[in-house]
Amino acid sequence: MFLITKLGVLIRGKMATILVTGGAGFIGSVAVKTLLSNGYSVVVVDNLSKGKKDLVDSKAKFYELDLVDDLSKVFEENKIDAERPV
Ligand SMILES: NC(=O)c1ccc[n+]([C@@H]2O[C@H](COP(=O)([O-])OP(=O)(O)OC[C@H]3O[C@@H](n4cnc5c(N)ncnc54)[C@H](O)[C@@H]3O)[C@@H](O)[C@H]2O)c1
Repeated sequence: MFLITKLGVLIRGKMATILVTGGAGFIGSVAVKTLLSNGYSVVVVDNLSKGKKDLVDSKAKFYELDLVDDLSKVFEENKIDAERPV
């Protein structure tokens, strides 16, 4: 069950966790900051082929992985509610 609030989406009473792929890039890093400032939990997957780890807000959980890699660890370790691909 989810509830849309002024700040964002509550899922089972907790702010949603969003997976941002390409989150170390130009657009992705801004998306990460915006999601965090709106109360979401954020998980980033980026292979750093073009992005920079320094651009990823330290409050986000970061995985240096390629999207063709096995992402099962990311989904095992985090309850992902939505994805924001870049
Ligand atoms: N104005 C500026 O200062 C500035 C700076 C950077 C980029 N730009 C422009 O903005 C445009 C859009 O930026 P963007 O955010 O779409 O591009 P981006 O290249 O900045 O971000 C894409 C991200 O996806 C990651 N990525 C790519 N393939 C991946 C894969 N297979 N697995 C995991 N991660 C992967 C890259 O490492 C990168 O971090 C750029 O093309 C560029 O023209 C502008």
